[in-house]
Amino acid sequence: MILKTNVLLLMAFLLLACSEQGPPKVFTDDANVAAQVEDLLAQMTLEEKVGQMNQYNGFYDVTGPAPSEGDAKNKYEHLKKGWVGSMLNVSGAAQVREMQRIAVEETRLGIPLIFGLDVIHGHKTLAPIPLAESASWDLEAIEKSARVAAIEASARGINWTFAPMVDISRDARWGRVMEGAGEDPYLGAQIGVARIKGFQGDDLSAHNTIAACAKHFAGYGFAEAGRDYNTVDVGTSTLYNVIFPPFKAAVEHDVKTVMNAFNILNGIPATANAWLQRDILKQKWGFKGYVISDWGSGFEMIAHGYAKDLEQVAELSANAGSDMDMESYAYVKHLADLVRAGKVEEAKIDEAVRRILTVKFELGLFDDPYRYCDAQREKELIYHDDHKAAVLDMARKSIVLLKNEGELLPLSKSQKRIALIGALADDNNSPLGSWRIGSDDNTAVSVRDGLKAYSAQVEYAKGADVVTGETAFAVPLNINNNDRSGFAEAVRLARKSEVVVMVLGEHGFHSGEGRSRVNIGLPGVQQDLLEAVYKVNKNIVLVLMNGRPLALPWADKHIPAIVEAWQLGTMTGHAVADVLFGAYNPSGKLTMSFPRHVGQCPIYYNHYNTGRPTGGNGVFWSHYTDESNDPLYPFGYGLSYTTFSYDKLQVQVEPGNKVTVSVEVTNSGERAGEEVTQLYLHDKVASVARPVKELKGFKKYRLEPGETKTLTFELTPTELGFYDNEGEFIVEPGAFSLMVGTNSQEGLWADFNW
Ligand code: GLC
Repeated sequence: MILKTNVLLLMAFLLLACSEQGPPKVFTDDANVAAQVEDLLAQMTLEEKVGQMNQYNGFYDVTGPAPSEGDAKNKYEHLKKGWVGSMLNVSGAAQVREMQRIAVEETRLGIPLIFGLDVIHGHKTLAPIPLAESASWDLEAIEKSARVAAIEASARGINWTFAPMVDISRDARWGRVMEGAGEDPYLGAQIGVARIKGFQGDDLSAHNTIAACAKHFAGYGFAEAGRDYNTVDVGTSTLYNVIFPPFKAAVEHDVKTVMNAFNILNGIPATANAWLQRDILKQKWGFKGYVISDWGSGFEMIAHGYAKDLEQVAELSANAGSDMDMESYAYVKHLADLVRAGKVEEAKIDEAVRRILTVKFELGLFDDPYRYCDAQREKELIYHDDHKAAVLDMARKSIVLLKNEGELLPLSKSQKRIALIGALADDNNSPLGSWRIGSDDNTAVSVRDGLKAYSAQVEYAKGADVVTGETAFAVPLNINNNDRSGFAEAVRLARKSEVVVMVLGEHGFHSGEGRSRVNIGLPGVQQDLLEAVYKVNKNIVLVLMNGRPLALPWADKHIPAIVEAWQLGTMTGHAVADVLFGAYNPSGKLTMSFPRHVGQCPIYYNHYNTGRPTGGNGVFWSHYTDESNDPLYPFGYGLSYTTFSYDKLQVQVEPGNKVTVSVEVTNSGERAGEEVTQLYLHDKVASVARPVKELKGFKKYRLEPGETKTLTFELTPTELGFYDNEGEFIVEPGAFSLMVGTNSQEGLWADFNW
């Protein structure tokens, strides 16, 4: 009671003293925060400490009557006892304000709740799905996209997002590849950091910044066979050199929270993995924030065969450094008793609570628990035109041109008759993607609407549904595998048209959590529709909407123009139209390899050479007898409406210091355009076998027609080194080669010695 009175008096005084400047700011220096945390911790009972480690999902509409029975009643009682530290899936200024009021005004110490939500690629105004954003290779635009998300989310009471997902993945069968930044750790780390900067800004106590969360620690993207929630068994070198780097970069850039993972990692569930959470994350990397479990990942240890009951879940998780329990109820039910029984030291509880309270102080929640609950800001900021402009820019930059034979693209406004075919072309819901949890359905600009702004000569025919019936985050899709009744109309329209734009691919809920697929071609009857149209008109522009790499060898062989348009969020239609009509020259580059066949998965550019990389005419080498080893489209691949030529690669070695690389790039085409020049390194002989190439630098820039630019890269020991199997970063002398080029397969090579 003492603290609450002090804080309330202090808040009242500060509010009076500086009411015209808006909410007061105290506890902004670390020493002050640390002192406040200790002061508060000293007043907390064991149950109240455990309460801070307990996160509940929103369990009732707080503007309605309080729950009077069942699970919701228990949660409500716990909330009023101060046994809840955080809520997830509660949003809206009014909802959050009332839930926060209960915590601040009806509990003994009045400790504010922290409200978390999956703000994965926007909150109300949605940006492209993260895999699409990563294809922009534009760190500034990606940071801006996260900034917009934070502004809208914080206007609706949210002060913590469960993003960025920084899981590296190499398997298109895994539905959650849509949520990450692709297969490369170097790029994935930089994109993760850009998102964290966008979310957290420079001042976490500001009313429009939110805490970020690097997830899922660790190895979730390596689920065997791309099957979600499946076993993860990876070697030490992959762990240290591929899976860890984006998380380590996030910690180095002050990410405030980390979420652990559902999977076991080499036999130990991540949530109970002390090596991961205590030795690596907190000890070796010095992570100062707190770890949240994934939804029920604690409880799932029982299914994993690692805990016999919920009490043991609580013991193993707390001892392993999982600081907050999302919806397992393990901590709130058992942790206090485990401490009293001496099975979990109270010092470990105190450490977890310190971490949690510190973030709450840094967010300014003790200064003003209602800082994020301003209904006026909510009304003014969501779907703001500035936000739509930002996500439109992001969407344009995320589009990847995969093929443009005969220069069918860009389309001309004077085109006589353009046929637009495909259910996804007239869909304003699917392009929002699967992680639109805080936004509103059917708020995307469809491709059909976008094209209207350019030409009145566009006629539409659906051709076929992709799915039928209800579509929602947690509901299985009902895929149309047999209704071809719309084909005839689509074929009739295509036959009389000059050019056909076909928008085909996945529904927004074909990818995402729980959405693994083994057939990664065009779902349903869409391939049949494509071939039926092709029979009457070969001038097809295929616009793909998908949340994962697709295997499309037939399309690549037959269709003259192919545009990868992912799920681009709220401004989809305008971004696609701007690219198709050439108002924006596509600049995206793939961040995941597209396979020729699902049987090649996992397929990725930074693979090892193996002992039998080639075999001439024989069979005894590392290959398939019925498919190429190569992807259909490689990592880093993307075309432009212009062309770029590379010349004069030069390498200068300053032994022990750095390697300076320069190259000349010329826009050899007729239009201005942006290029992403990539630098790849190969360590030819090392104490741990190294991949055939690894991305170690990239630059995105614009060139006018005929313009030449000299690019310079520097390779330091940071880029030349790697982690050995003890987790030590080492740099070894020896022979290296490097390639600078337009994708991971095309460029100029040079050798050097270090
Ligand atoms: C989900 C996801 C995780 C998400 C959490 C809260 O199961 O695995 O990424 O942040 O639960 O929605």
